[in-house]
Amino acid sequence: MLHPFLLATRLLFFFARVEEHPAAKCLGLKDTLQLENTTIIHVAYITAPTNVSTAGSCQSSAPVTAAPLCRVYLVINTTATSAVHAEAWLPDTWYGRFLGLGNSGLGGCIDYNSLDYGTSLHFATIGSDNGHDGPDGRAFLNHPEVINDFAWRAVHSEAVIGKQIVEAYYGTPAAKSYYLGCSTGGRQGTQAAFKFPEDFDGIVAGAPATDFNNVLGWEGMLSHYIGGTNVDFTPTSPAFISPELWTVISAEILRQCDSLDGLQDGIITEPEACLFRPEAIQCTDHHTTLCLTPVQVEAVKNIYSPLFGLDGQLVYPRYPPGAEADPVAAIIFGGNFSNLGVADWERYAVLNVTEHSFTNFSLHDIVLLDEVNPGGIATFNGDLSSFRHRGGKFLTYHGQRDPLISSINSKRVYDLISHTLSLPLLDDFYRLFLIPGMGHCVGGLGATSLGQGILPGTNIVNDSTHNILLALVDWVEDGVAPATIIGSDGMGTERTHCRYPMRSVFDGTVFVCTA
Ligand SMILES: *[C@@H]1O[C@H](CO)[C@@H](O)[C@H](O)[C@H]1NC(C)=O
Ligand SMILES: *[C@@H]1O[C@H](CO)[C@@H](O)[C@H](O)[C@H]1NC(C)=O
Ligand SMILES: *[C@@H]1O[C@H](CO)[C@@H](O)[C@H](O)[C@H]1NC(C)=O
Ligand SMILES: *[C@@H]1O[C@H](CO)[C@@H](O)[C@H](O)[C@H]1NC(C)=O
Ligand SMILES: *[C@@H]1O[C@H](CO)[C@@H](O)[C@H](O)[C@H]1NC(C)=O
Ligand SMILES: *[C@@H]1O[C@H](CO)[C@@H](O)[C@H](O)[C@H]1NC(C)=O
Ligand SMILES: *[C@@H]1O[C@H](CO)[C@@H](O)[C@H](O)[C@H]1NC(C)=O
Repeated sequence: MLHPFLLATRLLFFFARVEEHPAAKCLGLKDTLQLENTTIIHVAYITAPTNVSTAGSCQSSAPVTAAPLCRVYLVINTTATSAVHAEAWLPDTWYGRFLGLGNSGLGGCIDYNSLDYGTSLHFATIGSDNGHDGPDGRAFLNHPEVINDFAWRAVHSEAVIGKQIVEAYYGTPAAKSYYLGCSTGGRQGTQAAFKFPEDFDGIVAGAPATDFNNVLGWEGMLSHYIGGTNVDFTPTSPAFISPELWTVISAEILRQCDSLDGLQDGIITEPEACLFRPEAIQCTDHHTTLCLTPVQVEAVKNIYSPLFGLDGQLVYPRYPPGAEADPVAAIIFGGNFSNLGVADWERYAVLNVTEHSFTNFSLHDIVLLDEVNPGGIATFNGDLSSFRHRGGKFLTYHGQRDPLISSINSKRVYDLISHTLSLPLLDDFYRLFLIPGMGHCVGGLGATSLGQGILPGTNIVNDSTHNILLALVDWVEDGVAPATIIGSDGMGTERTHCRYPMRSVFDGTVFVCTA
């Protein structure tokens, strides 16, 4: 039975509507909203589900399924030399909740799919362009305030201004505020909890790009091991590994490690347990094709080993065996260094140049990234005490088959917070769910849909046992923390996902969580 107090808090969330004439009220925002440093560029009242055109260079049409809603496009001057463009989507049927969104990569792009997702669950939702237009890093060049927007300020600005827009429109402030993001969005959510613990009552931060300088530097080293370069890019390095050879490596990884979890299903539940030996597919006198040369064996061993720095300290955990089979892994292993975020970041934000050769990328570059640390981007800090003490709740998830950000790093961050706060378990405010088979933020193999938004259709089941955002709402508003999250594969198969440090163990029929 619900405790009477919990029942009472729940009643606050009986849905609200814009009092009268929502269309007129919406259109009136253009003139009535007077917000610091902010210009309302455009306002539209959307009456029926449709696709709408978008500003900027990132997406030309965006789904709107939760209409009727009020769409507000605005720009916040964060300093004299920087500005954040944002969209607030305000559904007629509003459950009293505010939702701020993150971004991805080095972007630059408003997350329209998550605007649609958030409003479909009746959140007043706001997303920003993270302080510049477009998915690359050119805007950072000699613009430290644009870097500051990217590193920490854009999400804070959208929270501050977004909450004021919500209050002006609905006539009452949002009762609770939430954040949803993955990858760079996961890093932004983590940064918000560190720097602005009052901004959000609850945060979902997926596959976070925390320890940002080192994750970028690590990707650079992975590409470097196989001869990746941005000049005279041709896969001619003797260490280069062709897509055909990667297929052989992935098959061998599964041969060695798929059964470790008790079920041969193509999914390695715990990649950290997989001590892959590439020597098993080294070429011999009798085996000369689709096998690895000694130089390639060395490269592969480096890829699946932790990266240590010039000072002997860990720079970043190893690549998770199995993740190389995700198509997105080609960003790192395709040989084109320019595809990596580290190329734009190092050029435009660290060296402040437009041209740079990465032929000799090395650990020295990583030292430089960490030293300059533009905008304090690192986001690698164990002290979440302020967020915890104000009652904030933090949910994070990470695909165990993430080809771009090692899931092992999310365990490392958990352990860092645990150590810093002297708490053996963070269960009272911070929970990490490791998702076997999941790639980067969405997709992959198996039951990887858990309401994380981002792509259309990833909110397959609308309840808090299957939806990480709704689980967060239950935690914040009712004090009911998610013990597990159930993922779905969209075709009727489900799997219970465990929170770290619990392990997912096959009991002969299903996977269960054990300490
Ligand atoms: C924001 O900056 C732009 C360009 O500098 C300027 O034209 C505009 O008036 C500023 N808006 C506000 C609200 O300060
Ligand atoms: C919106 O665009 C998508 C993709 O182009 C299309 O599948 C969908 O039918 C469109 N929806 C509406 C309501 O026009
Ligand atoms: C408005 O801009 C000023 C100076 O650029 C800044 O100090 C202030 O924090 C800004 N306010 C908001 C709400 O962003
Ligand atoms: C989820 O369920 C709530 C009520 O339980 C409903 O109002 C809402 O429209 C549903 N959302 C989606 C995306 O199905
Ligand atoms: C490498 O990637 C960059 C950035 O994505 C792209 O502009 C360039 O055309 C690519 N070069 C090759 C040779 O594929
Ligand atoms: C590039 O500019 C940043 C400030 O944005 C500065 O911290 C850094 O030292 C500069 N890099 C070099 C190599 O001068
Ligand atoms: C990379 O290192 C090699 C060997 O030290 C050197 O010959 C070459 O000039 C360097 N390339 C760049 C672009 O710095």
